[in-house]
Amino acid sequence: MNKRQRAQSRGRSAKSKVYVFCMLLVALSSLLYALSLDAKVTGYCSNCHTMHNSQNGRPVAQDFDGSSFSFTDTPKEGLLIYSCLGCHSATNGATWQDSATKAPIVFNTVEPTYGVKGLAAGNFFYVSATVDDTGHNILATNPDGILDDTPPGGSFPSGGSYAGRLRCSGTRGCHGHNGGQSGDSAIDDETSALKGAHHGSDTPPLNGDLSDVARNYRFLLGIAGKEDSDWEQETSTSHNEYKGDTNFGVTNTISYLCSECHGNFHSSDGVGSASPWLRHPTDILLPQTGEYATYDPTTTYNNLVPVAYIDFDNPSRATAVVMCLSCHRAHASPWFKMMRWDYKGWPGSGTNGCGACHTSKD
Ligand code: HEC
Ligand code: HEC
Ligand code: HEC
Ligand code: HEC
Ligand code: HEC
Repeated sequence: MNKRQRAQSRGRSAKSKVYVFCMLLVALSSLLYALSLDAKVTGYCSNCHTMHNSQNGRPVAQDFDGSSFSFTDTPKEGLLIYSCLGCHSATNGATWQDSATKAPIVFNTVEPTYGVKGLAAGNFFYVSATVDDTGHNILATNPDGILDDTPPGGSFPSGGSYAGRLRCSGTRGCHGHNGGQSGDSAIDDETSALKGAHHGSDTPPLNGDLSDVARNYRFLLGIAGKEDSDWEQETSTSHNEYKGDTNFGVTNTISYLCSECHGNFHSSDGVGSASPWLRHPTDILLPQTGEYATYDPTTTYNNLVPVAYIDFDNPSRATAVVMCLSCHRAHASPWFKMMRWDYKGWPGSGTNGCGACHTSKD
């Protein structure tokens, strides 16, 4: 063997080692992926629960006021250490998932530096600032002047004792039993409205299930979809898929969820049924002709302007549907009216996300 042959043979055996290693990685990651699909909570019970809210005579439960945590003598329902927002918060800008509980973070008290300024739904950081025209205000302050018990274009599902408050779950919230679907009864209390969900199985398919909160897209009762296992912390290898339809009456679409409170923006009366439209249409097919022909988020995913699909398990351009989340985030964003891009600032400082679909207006 001359130098070159030795080098080649070394190269080959190195290559085959690399190959074996890669195959192992593939096998391991698909195993981990399979495991992570069933995303019920794991880990020490004591990461999340406290039996007596007392340890060495001192409290364990913690309150979160939107900026910091403090111990409290008042025990929390479900024997939990934190409230919803407490578990799903971080007091820095970099954490997207809590290291102990593994909870996805939806509220960083410092501006988020990961993802597209937060996970898929956006980040409640943008309602903690003094000006709130940028998100769903679950913090019980009301700087944007919108009455929190009057969602623009609609009303809350009826009932509930938390008037004036938008909450994470329950009658005045989006997650769990909020009474927004026919056949569901609202449960007022945030924890009860979600009972069992964190320990339930959310193995796909999630097609919308009124009796088991875990078996819905992101604990949104009645709503279908495909959940990305890292909540779109990155979107280059995986992302959510949303359920759309071409009929406002179909109740398991993501836009139907929004319409539970903003009904006029998602109804034939409010929107019209053909051009010229009365309000921007949702739950209509994205045409494959004219200015829309070149936009294909099915082949090249665009996190800024996603679409829903009639069959979200088999996304195809022919069944791509415009949805509320084509333009808005669900929690809050850096931009006016929770937009996914700076619509108000374009042209000038902003981005023209409208141009992704309306290619002749870019
Ligand atoms: C003790 C900590 C803790 C508390 C309190 C808590 N959560 Fe969670 N939550 C978690 C963890 C951990 C996960 C991740 C589980 C998983 O991987 O699906 C999670 C996941 C979620 C999800 C996403 C589910 C999915 O499909 O990915 C939603 C929505 C949610 N929680 C809402 C709430 C609401 C609303 C409350 C208040 C009633 C709440 N959480 C209270 C820890 C908590
Ligand atoms: C449980 C009722 C409820 C649901 C469901 C709901 N919203 Fe809202 N929404 C409200 C209320 C109440 C307000 C006004 C108070 C506020 O701005 O926090 C509001 C305000 C908004 C605003 C204006 C925010 C601002 O700061 O000016 C936008 C945009 C919005 N919602 C979009 C959506 C979208 C998109 C969805 C579906 C992903 C949705 N909403 C689902 C209740 C709801
Ligand atoms: C990562 C956080 C987390 C861990 C770890 C955790 N839980 Fe929970 N658990 C929750 C949350 C949040 C709720 C309340 C909301 C809900 O039911 O989804 C809950 C609710 C419960 C409930 C009442 C609802 C139901 O499902 O029956 C019981 C009982 C419970 N947990 C027991 C346990 C036990 C036992 C362990 C340890 C084996 C444990 N939990 C570990 C977060 C956690
Ligand atoms: C996800 C794709 C998509 C995005 C993003 C989008 N649109 Fe549209 N838009 C459509 C579709 C589809 C129609 C209906 C076209 C038809 O009737 O053939 C439409 C209709 C309209 C109409 C009404 C036209 C008529 O004939 O009545 C206006 C105006 C409009 N869009 C403006 C905007 C603006 C402004 C933005 C950005 C804030 C935007 N659109 C973002 C897809 C989109
Ligand atoms: C084509 C992009 C687009 C789509 C799709 C869209 N919106 Fe909007 N929405 C906007 C823009 C832009 C604004 C703010 C400025 C304006 O009205 O032109 C807005 C404002 C709002 C507001 C605030 C109204 C107020 O009084 O302050 C609410 C609430 C809202 N949208 C809900 C929804 C819901 C619910 C859906 C789905 C049924 C939806 N939007 C679909 C672009 C969109």
